[in-house]
Amino acid sequence: LSKIEIKLSDIPEGKNMTFKWRGKPLFVRHRTDKEIAAEASVDLSELRDPQHDKDRVTNPSWVIVIGVCTHLGCVPIANAGEYGGYYCPCHGSHYDASGRIRKGPAPLNLEVPYYEFADDNTVIVG
Ligand code: FES
Repeated sequence: LSKIEIKLSDIPEGKNMTFKWRGKPLFVRHRTDKEIAAEASVDLSELRDPQHDKDRVTNPSWVIVIGVCTHLGCVPIANAGEYGGYYCPCHGSHYDASGRIRKGPAPLNLEVPYYEFADDNTVIVG
């Protein structure tokens, strides 16, 4: 299937769930208010791959990214690492709760796939 439909009510606040989409892990993260505020206020000059959080999310409560490290393709661990987002244990890349690379060898932010909210509780990726 080229599209996947995700029921958002299944994902509690503060949790990241992993789905399989087009043969890759897909992360869907329900951010807390604290995470939303922290990521919105990051100074872009600190970033290796500068992108504002608002250019990576449609609804600030939900981060939807491909769960493949942009270094050499391992699957990062959610809610880990120095920036509280994702940590890739293969060579130590730290991503924030917007999926942006913050430390370690990965060159780029986690990729944001195309998606649309069908309604308040449903997102369709692909
Ligand atoms: Fe993730 Fe190397 S593959 S840090």
